[in-house]
Amino acid sequence: MEILEQLYEGKAKKVYRTSDPKLYMVYYKDDATAFNGSKKGSIQDKGYYNNQISAIFFKLLTEKGIPNHFVELTGERSMLVKTLEIIPVEVVVRNIVAGSLAKRIGKPEGTQLAVPVLEFYYKDDALGDPMINEYHVKALGLATEEEMKTISQMALRVNEILVEHLTPLNIQLVDFKLEFGRHEGEILLGDEISPDTCRFWDTATQEKLDKDRFRRDLGKVEEAYQEVLQRLTGGK
Ligand code: C5P
Repeated sequence: MEILEQLYEGKAKKVYRTSDPKLYMVYYKDDATAFNGSKKGSIQDKGYYNNQISAIFFKLLTEKGIPNHFVELTGERSMLVKTLEIIPVEVVVRNIVAGSLAKRIGKPEGTQLAVPVLEFYYKDDALGDPMINEYHVKALGLATEEEMKTISQMALRVNEILVEHLTPLNIQLVDFKLEFGRHEGEILLGDEISPDTCRFWDTATQEKLDKDRFRRDLGKVEEAYQEVLQRLTGGK
């Protein structure tokens, strides 16, 4: 199989067409952005960490029966994935109050939520990804009611699987963002699952092991990404 032309370059990844019409190659970059692109920088070896960490999570989810786009790792910073027609809805799952939810509801970061909270955002950089609900999704024709039911169930199940996996590694899964797409009539989980898209806190110290270290200039950014990979692999 051959890697053909670049189809798309996003803030953190590049997507390439391949000679197999059903597969894309995704390359993870070291570039980092925050606050809808207004803060720009680079995190050394982030592409490597996010590619490896995402692969571990996608393999786990495949084992647990969550259909997703991951096929195989092809390099330190690249993976082969199934082609997806991305649904422009970012799905956020929250277990603990942090980030934009802390601001919106006026509760301190770290407040435990009684049940996981599911939120939807319209994936549109020019609009700054505004929050929407399932009525907007249906009214704008972004996805059908049935697709949204599947997506919601999958997102909550992903949360259960990740929490179960991360708890023994002393990582609290505070919140995370998922993206979904259509592939041959099926809804698949796509994008990445990494410290760029999740909030991970050390259970004992509440130390942040994710992109908030970059967003908030907390230092030791690379070390945090490395620590997450290290815990997931047990140092192997
Ligand atoms: O900023 P906020 O608190 O709404 O983010 C919730 C979660 O979604 C965080 O884990 C964040 O990393 C992730 N997120 C993301 N991409 C966005 C917005 C949020 O990965 N565009």
